[in-house]
Parts: sequence; structure tokens; C-alpha cells
Amino acid sequence: MNQKIFMNWWKKNPVYQIYPKSFLDTSGNGVGDLRGVISKLDHIKSLGAGAIWLTPIYPSPMVDNGYDISDYTAINPLFGSMADFDELIAEARARDIKIVMDLVFNHSSDKHPWFLESKSSRDNPKADWYVWRDEKTNWRGIFGGSAWQWCEERGQYYLHTFATEQPDLNWENPDVRQALYDAANFWLKRGVGGFRIDAIVYIKKPEKFLDGAPDSPDGSCAVHNMIANTDGILDFLHELKREVFDGHDIFTVGEANSVKPEDLPEWVGERGVFDMLFEFSHVNVMFKRGDDVWHQSKPIKLSELKKALSDSQAATRDSWYPIYFENHDKPRSVNNFFPHGSDKILAAKALAIILFGLRGTPFIYQGEELGFTNTKFNSIDEYDDISSRGAYNLARADGLSAKEAMRFVQKFSRDNARTPMQWNSSANAGFTRGKPWLPVHDDFKTCNAAVEERDENSVLNFYRRLSALRSSNDVLLVGEYEELYPRTEELFIFTRTLGEKKIIVAVNFTTHDVDLPEKIFDGAKKILGNYSDEKNYLRATEAVIYGN
Ligand code: NOJ
Repeated sequence: MNQKIFMNWWKKNPVYQIYPKSFLDTSGNGVGDLRGVISKLDHIKSLGAGAIWLTPIYPSPMVDNGYDISDYTAINPLFGSMADFDELIAEARARDIKIVMDLVFNHSSDKHPWFLESKSSRDNPKADWYVWRDEKTNWRGIFGGSAWQWCEERGQYYLHTFATEQPDLNWENPDVRQALYDAANFWLKRGVGGFRIDAIVYIKKPEKFLDGAPDSPDGSCAVHNMIANTDGILDFLHELKREVFDGHDIFTVGEANSVKPEDLPEWVGERGVFDMLFEFSHVNVMFKRGDDVWHQSKPIKLSELKKALSDSQAATRDSWYPIYFENHDKPRSVNNFFPHGSDKILAAKALAIILFGLRGTPFIYQGEELGFTNTKFNSIDEYDDISSRGAYNLARADGLSAKEAMRFVQKFSRDNARTPMQWNSSANAGFTRGKPWLPVHDDFKTCNAAVEERDENSVLNFYRRLSALRSSNDVLLVGEYEELYPRTEELFIFTRTLGEKKIIVAVNFTTHDVDLPEKIFDGAKKILGNYSDEKNYLRATEAVIYGN
């Protein structure tokens, strides 16, 4: 099918997300770097990607692996130099790929010169650049522990929504906002193609908290429930849009845990601020509230997962949706969404079919295209991820045994997504010639890019086929989404329709055969599936795209 439809470049092609620390190390220090990214651009291009989102590469003490920034307009020497970055932009551009930066504007590192100055006294020029209070409250930070930290020099507490080392910036101060806009504009001048905006729902603190803050009335004490999506936040965001985004051919995607579907028109599209919004409803479907307490998770009900996806599709019918199952904060999707005992390769391909089958821009997270699965460390000390340690301590404080607490860490740890990329079957999967900062997954001899390159039935080659299919198929690009049989707990079936043309996607989430409702076919034929042959029912973990 040919394309006569006009589409923005960022709607047409998938985005590939890179966690640079774990991508490819060319220097031998055990940590991935920008030259590693440059050397793998052809791999990324082979997936049809139009952009690469790089998680933070700025100078940072790395307490939260780069989300604690100590200089917004430089490159962390761990990852390379500004010259490497410029070369990356140029080499990517030569392949028609844009580089998208991560803006972490809710907080900085506690080692940022702004914070060092701010904390030095109550009357320095930056005294008001962070959120300082005389009293603390019972709020619990997102990584566990109090959301307030005592500062001896000022004799006050500062607020940190995330780790102690990540103090929240005070967006009420116009100088703070201007400094952040200047930083973003610095990267636009260097030629970046867009931004992913981190933790954006927390930038505005409720007015009533300005002179002191109340305790959380709910037992969880989660800071999220006290400050997320505060009235007035959109005024700040519209200013960010005016001062930075407007007038550039870029795309923006905000990270926004718990923006309600009915509020989406205020956030994305014509009237909104961003082009897309990462919301969490489908990836947090196993949690009760915006605040995801790992040890309070429940098994996923397929009908709830489908509802979350369908609600998001409906809410973005007039705008656009970033489709994702994985990122650097989530467990690997094969483990997360498919029942224990599912064939891993079939499951990876089935999720890929949904990723490319829904309406929106598919975001592929490094390793997802190779079918990576969760890792497993036996002791909490082996985990690098700061949130894993917080979640472990919280579970222990709630009375779980060490063994039970570990079970949840193994299941949800962000390190599951952060093990090094597996490029080939040589030592350390070809990721580094040094000692990798996090152990390589022990399946690397069979699950790696080189092995999958040679196997036409690999997950990697399946991704390539799907990406090519989507970019040449108007129905997959823009067709209307409709879910069928929403109540079944076995199958996910949806259609995409454009005029007379129809695509049907059917996925079996169980480990047994399931009959397909006859009437979904309506003359449709199989276009692509994760089994090579075809039956009139779906086998374990089978996923098929049909079209008329
Ligand atoms: C969301 C990022 O994706 C995550 O990795 C980080 O820890 C928090 N925001 C804090 O910046």
C-alpha cells in the first residue's frame, strides 16, 4: 500500500531508545559510550528508526545513572566528548536519524553548582532555586525514605521527589525556568531532533504547600499523590513550549505518570504542550495506584491491560500516542506481560506485533528487538539500581522476609532492563573488553545481535519485517483503532480501519490453543505472524496480523 498521507517524520518511523551506559563500550572502561552508539547506527537504521532517544549523557555523579545532572550543557566524560556528540548528530543525520535528548528539569544533582550555592546560606543569590522548608512532612520519596533531607548549612529541609541526591528545582522562580530553557536551547542549536522530558508532572508544587506543607492523609504517604499534576502546571509547560519547542522541526514526548485520559487534550496535540505523552496506565497495570509499590503488585489481568491500552488509544484519537512496552525503568516485557512458561521468542514477537499494530509511534528499547529477558541477581547488594534498594527496604519495613522482598526486586528491578547489550557470542557479549558495570545476562551466547542477524526467523529480523510493513501500510500508520472482545482474558484482538481497508491483530496471551471467533476474518488473510504456518485457531502465544 502506498502512502499519499502527509505525516510528520516522528509519526512515520519508530524511535529507538538507548541507555548509553549499557549499549557499547569502545574504551574498555566497562561503561558504554557515544562512540559505541556511532558504531551501531546501522543496526538502528535496520529497524527503520527515525530517531534515537538517549537517556541522560550529561555530567553527573551517577547516583541515578545520569538522572542526577550536575551540568546541563556538557557531556559526561564517561560517555565521551562534545566532539563525539557532534559526530553522532552528523553520522545519524547522514542516515536520516535524529538524536533526541532527555531533559531532566524537575530536579538536578545535589552536586550541581546551583544547589551547592543554594544550600550554602539562606541569603545567597540562588537561595530560592530549590524547595526549602523549615518543617518536614511524612511524605515518602519515589525511591523510598523521606522526601525531605535536612541541610545543616541552612538549617532547613529540601524536597527531593526522587533520591536524596536529586533536589527538586523551584519552578516558581523565573530565573530557574530561564536557566532550564537556556539549557534546552543549547542542545537545539547543536542540532538535536527533539526531547523526552523527564518526570514532568512534579514540577509544580501546590500553592498551599508554599508556606509549609501538610502531611499526607493517606497511609502510603507517597509524595506522588501529594504533588503530581498540580493545577497551574500547564502554565509552566506552555511557557516551556513557547521558549524552547515552538518553531523547530522537533518532537517532544513528556513522561507523565497519571495524567488522566480526559485531560490529555490539554497536554498533547493542537491545544497541548507536547507531541506525545508517556503515560503509565498499561505498564503499571499490576499496581493499585500512581505510586507503584512493588511488593503490593497483583498478577496482571489481560482485560485490564487491554483496557489501559484501548483507553489510551481512544484518548489520543485526535492526537498521537507513543507506544511502548519497555524502557530503562521497567522489567523486560516478555517476563512482564506473558505468563510464566510462555515461549520467549514467540512472546517477544507477539509483543512486537502489538507494538507495531497499535496507532502511534513505536518506541523500541535497546535489546527489546533481540528478545531480551529479565536478569536475576541473588542478593540486594548486587543491584545497582537505587530504586531497587528503596523498594527492598520498604518491603522489609512492611514485614516481608529478605527472601520475599528479593522476589519482588528480581521481578521489577530496573536493572532487568539495564544489563549490557548482547552484540555477539564473545566474552561479555562483545559489550566491553573490560569488566562490564553490570553483569551480562547469562543467555548471551544464544541471544545476541550477531546470532540473530544470521537467523531469518530471529526476533531481530521479525522487528525489521514489522517495521517495514508498518511504514508502507497506511492502515497501520493512521487507521482507526477498535478493540474486539474486550472481556476475554485469553486473547487481545483489535482492528485498524482506513476506509474499506482493514487490519486485524489477534494475540493469544495463554500457553494453550484458543479458538478465534469466526467472524473476525471477513475475508481477511494472514499478513504476518509469529508461527510460520496458519491454523483457524491461535496456538500458545501465537500472534497474527490479518488484512483484507
Ligand atoms: C524517570 C526516569 O526515567 C528514571 O530513570 C529516573 O530515575 C526518574 N525519572 C528520576 O529522574
